Amino acid sequence: MRVLLAASEAYPLIKTGGLGDVVGALPAALRAVGVDARLVLPAYPAALAALPTTRLIARSALYGTPLALLQAELPIDGGRPLPVYLIQATAFERSGNPYQDVTGQDWPDNPARFALFCRAAAALALGHLAPDWRADVVHAHDWQAGLLPALLSLEPKRPRTVFTVHNLAYQGLVAGADADALGLPVDWWSPDALEFYGQLALIKGGLAFADRITTVSPRYAQEIQTAEFGCGLDGLLRYRAGVLSGILNGIDTELWNPAADPALVAPYDAQSLAAKAQNKAALQAELGLAAERDALLLGLVGRLVEQKGIDLLLGVLNRLPAATQVAVLGSGEADYVAALQAAARANPRRIAFRSGYDEALAHRIQAGADAFLVPSRFEPCGLTQLYALRYGTVPIVRAVGGLADTVVDASPANLAAGRATGIVFKQASAAALAAAIRRALGLYRAGTSWREMQAAGMAEDHSWTTAAQAYNALYQDLVRTPD
Ligand code: ADP
Ligand code: GLC
Repeated sequence: MRVLLAASEAYPLIKTGGLGDVVGALPAALRAVGVDARLVLPAYPAALAALPTTRLIARSALYGTPLALLQAELPIDGGRPLPVYLIQATAFERSGNPYQDVTGQDWPDNPARFALFCRAAAALALGHLAPDWRADVVHAHDWQAGLLPALLSLEPKRPRTVFTVHNLAYQGLVAGADADALGLPVDWWSPDALEFYGQLALIKGGLAFADRITTVSPRYAQEIQTAEFGCGLDGLLRYRAGVLSGILNGIDTELWNPAADPALVAPYDAQSLAAKAQNKAALQAELGLAAERDALLLGLVGRLVEQKGIDLLLGVLNRLPAATQVAVLGSGEADYVAALQAAARANPRRIAFRSGYDEALAHRIQAGADAFLVPSRFEPCGLTQLYALRYGTVPIVRAVGGLADTVVDASPANLAAGRATGIVFKQASAAALAAAIRRALGLYRAGTSWREMQAAGMAEDHSWTTAAQAYNALYQDLVRTPD
């Protein structure tokens, strides 16, 4: 089974969020269950810099745009290296983020850049660029790879296609002359195809044309069929419900392993949880928080965008219960950055904010915090609550998407049964988040239940094996069933 995974980011080559984590880890997990999984990415400078060597496989031109196909190998622990294909073109030769310039503005030609990427990936999957390999299944991720299933649907002898929705809110919208310049078939200007209220939505290339659609948690697969979470696409998703399912993300349990995490001052596991206190003290010192051993230290790491409920957090920062501290790491919208900076300046011994992207600090917050906040308005899966579970850091999450699927609330019944792993709240309001934090504080002070929750979370297995088996079953089923 030859599977080409196509996406705009993959850790450790390039990452802005969970998509990078997932696409970075899934191919190795697929290879471990016997799939010949390969990855294709744009050849961003950062990705090339992260690879010691690349080989030129082919030069080509698509719609007049010159490009080159490079191949590299990513080492995999205990396995043969992962082949990675890189599409090199001037459109990808920009420094910084794959999607935005240094001021945080989206590159205006993103639809054209990723359309080029999809055309090249389609040619690769069909065996037109690297003659020794073609795909049985193409697995495209998010809108940047959305055109791939659509383009492949035009081919008589084509691989089967899977499209995974990591986030329905990013749709790859393009209008007017920019849309015309993509040179797509005119009949795709239809609501059954790519048209979306007078524009084209490149994500619809996946949603309308892929043989199968998956989401990154079962709950999100249900939610996106409703008007509340469907981002205007719920009608189409209900129509395609028969081929839509949710496969819960895993996590890279080697990268995110508190017992062997090079970012920590004191690695620990479930048997040596006392050492977590050293990480907390170190984090308090690093961030300038008061050195209070008994304060409930709340961590948050994430993109500072509406999705993540940052406004809910801002609503509680001025009424934090005594004996709580907050450590936030994030980058994103300027208003949130300014508000978090102001809150931290006003209360530096209890509130710390680091603006920017810092992988090692993200690990230290996971290890040093007592509880981890994920107050999202919607959350397709969410990885930080899974890292928190593994780090014995009790997640406080809103009951949406993958958060609802992965955190078991500390209700009296769940606590009594030893099932509870965190605090789950329902309303998207600062009051509900504040109540959840008060509930956490009560349990933290009570001691025993808290330790039981930590132990229950740390005992869970969120490795990629289960998800890789589920994707493999989906691929097998797909190649067996006729078009
Ligand atoms: P999303 O993909 O919606 O951003 P996820 O929870 O799936 O949310 O994944 C976010 C990933 O990005 C996690 O690995 C998290 O640790 C990481 N991350 C987010 N913001 C930062 C940051 N400012 N610095 C370091 N890591 C970050
Ligand atoms: C998206 C979602 C997030 C998910 C990640 C990886 O960025 O926002 O919930 O965990 O993709 O699938």
